[in-house]
Amino acid sequence: MALLGCGVVGTEVVRLLREQAVDLAARVGAPLELAGIAVRRPDKVRAGVPEELLTTDAQGLVTRDDVDIVIEVIGGIEPARTLMLEAMKTGKSVITANKALLAEDGATLFAAAREYGADLYYEASVAGAIPLLRPLRESLVGDHVHRVLGIVNGTTNYILDQMDTHGAGFNDALEEAQALGYAEADPTADVEGFDAAAKAAILAQLAFHTPVGAADVHREGITEVSAADVAGAKGMDCVVKLLAICERVPSEGGRNGRGVSVRVYPAMIPRSHPLASVREAYNAVFVEAESAGSLMFYGAGAGGAPTASAILGDLVAVARNVVGGTPGPVEVTYAKLPVLPMGET
Ligand code: NDP
Ligand code: HSE
Repeated sequence: MALLGCGVVGTEVVRLLREQAVDLAARVGAPLELAGIAVRRPDKVRAGVPEELLTTDAQGLVTRDDVDIVIEVIGGIEPARTLMLEAMKTGKSVITANKALLAEDGATLFAAAREYGADLYYEASVAGAIPLLRPLRESLVGDHVHRVLGIVNGTTNYILDQMDTHGAGFNDALEEAQALGYAEADPTADVEGFDAAAKAAILAQLAFHTPVGAADVHREGITEVSAADVAGAKGMDCVVKLLAICERVPSEGGRNGRGVSVRVYPAMIPRSHPLASVREAYNAVFVEAESAGSLMFYGAGAGGAPTASAILGDLVAVARNVVGGTPGPVEVTYAKLPVLPMGET
């Protein structure tokens, strides 16, 4: 196994791999051995990370014969995309937390997974520790999903919560979120809504079995939300939350609807609504499906340990597939529904 990246998330993956080595081996039926860890700065001090495993040769690491699973937690588009494609081409399974890349060019990654028979798992890319993608991808795949709605960005929820609860300033709250490891390397992705939009695209694609990319998502961030807006909402017994909404747009007669709508924007919601009580960097997502009805998923949406938990879950699943010689599910976007712009919904 190879780890690409050893920052907020990667360091926690290493910690969990070491602390839980015996249990993980028992659950998989074979030991999980870390062959190497690719980073940019090998001299940086990383508590609990074996220095001898660090390398700057990510390309060499993913193509090594003794590596059959690659975990990508570098983030961004390149070199993450090239490394994952290279890994799949050489028969390796890939686990990633990279929502930006999945929403930008997931089609290329999924095509490679299909072509090379590789597993591509990405539970950690949306809503941190919350098991959400596997339920959509597997448990609910026989149902007909109408809507997925919720809070999917921990940093902005942390900022809005601090502004609402403690009267904190936007910049101070953002700095705290960065220090706690919730924010992206460039926090513009969080506060301008790009991160939530990427997650909304991933959710919509899985829920509606139709291709949805980041560019399809109507996006507004929270940089225009002022202290006065938050106080005004409070005066009306409401809170401001950054919502991601993915839904089918109904049509007369057509079961699939005339398209889908995917949007991210700050909204005022009544304090009595369950989403209003989502505090700090927690996330919560409702899924509404025809037969299952309404389901709510709630938990830690960001941070090193919660995200590493989701990655380890994928790792056990993928490693079991490797041991058993049976690949996991492959994404199929057969529906080809139009993603409708805001004005047309
Ligand atoms: P960090 O910025 O903390 O870590 C990134 C790591 O990647 C660093 O170790 C860095 O090396 C390494 N890296 C960067 N460029 C290269 C390169 N060219 N070659 C090799 N290594 C490189 O990010 P996070 O851990 O926070 O996030 C990682 C991924 O997980 C991102 O996709 C993010 O969106 C996603 N994610 C993050 C969550 C969070 O709460 N933080 C939650 C869910 C998903 P070095 O240390 O030497 O600089
Ligand atoms: N920056 C992201 C967030 C990390 O705040 O939600 C989790 O995906």
